[in-house]
Amino acid sequence: MKILITGGSGLIGKVLTQSLQDAGHEVAILTRRLDSKSTVTQYLWNPNRKEIDADALSGVEAIVHLAGANIAEKRWTKQRWEEIYSSRVASAQFLYEKVKECKIPLKSFISSSAIGWYGAATSEEVFTEEADCADDVLGALSMAWELAADQFLDLGCSVSKVRTGIVLTNEGGALPKMTKPILMGIGSSLGSGKQYMPWIHLDDLCAVYTQLVEHQLPAGVYNGVAPESITNRDLTKLLAKVLHRPLWLPNVPSFLLSLIFGEMATILLNGSRVSANKLIENGFQFKHPKTREAIEEIFGK
Ligand SMILES: NC(=O)c1ccc[n+]([C@@H]2O[C@H](COP(=O)([O-])OP(=O)(O)OC[C@H]3O[C@@H](n4cnc5c(N)ncnc54)[C@H](OP(=O)(O)O)[C@@H]3O)[C@@H](O)[C@H]2O)c1
Repeated sequence: MKILITGGSGLIGKVLTQSLQDAGHEVAILTRRLDSKSTVTQYLWNPNRKEIDADALSGVEAIVHLAGANIAEKRWTKQRWEEIYSSRVASAQFLYEKVKECKIPLKSFISSSAIGWYGAATSEEVFTEEADCADDVLGALSMAWELAADQFLDLGCSVSKVRTGIVLTNEGGALPKMTKPILMGIGSSLGSGKQYMPWIHLDDLCAVYTQLVEHQLPAGVYNGVAPESITNRDLTKLLAKVLHRPLWLPNVPSFLLSLIFGEMATILLNGSRVSANKLIENGFQFKHPKTREAIEEIFGK
């Protein structure tokens, strides 16, 4: 099957490209900058300027939409938030228009979404896919992102959305940021430490996308999280244990994180549990369902 991945140059996209190629699929990526070292077929696009390589969509049966300006990279200024928003929402809208205009017989559109759908709040509630979207900025972003994906239903193709938790890999993303201070011997929990950090091992997330592409999982919305919940405090302790480093400092106070990161601190300081039951009920088997085992595998322990 010919599959096109937006944001295919990113943390998830690179590994997903390899997994899909290993499964025998023909993969191409959409990128804003060609990488001369890349071995995958690349097509240029610029969703802001509504530009796309004329050949990019030819023969494509599935699109995996991973493009998105990193939510945790820079302070959320108005300009940055617009970029975060348009890189996910306007880009999907642009693809929809192109697929429609070029009459591409697309079979499936699979979009990333995020557990931000459930909002930035700490509670003991376990959110399932049935839960309403939260009334905050992350909820609004996820809603717009998912609605942009849903447009593809009009074109007669299936649509799936993966509300992704924190993706665990040592190649980038949250984990290296968490382990850096721990390795330096100055690690500590954030804020109350009681906030949950729904997570998924990168290999399991790629397996979810692959099974959606291959229709082994029925199309729909799924929480892309592992079955085991863990709080920030327990994950920090676990990382220190696995990496054989001491934890002796008090928690980083919430006000300090807000001072450093501004509004973005909310994603560090809040989090509830998110259910993986729908994936399991649909026959998905996690390779890394438990946090300790996932962390040990990542660090080769
Ligand atoms: N990693 C996580 O823990 C996590 C958790 C929840 C949800 N997600 C979601 O999963 C998706 C992929 O995540 P990732 O970790 O692989 O992200 P990533 O490493 O930051 O890669 C995202 C890709 O999006 C493209 N991109 C960045 N800014 C863009 C812009 N302004 N306009 C258009 N494209 C842009 C880039 O591709 P080019 O530079 O090649 O164009 C980049 O390689 C994102 O939508 C993210 O929000 C990730």
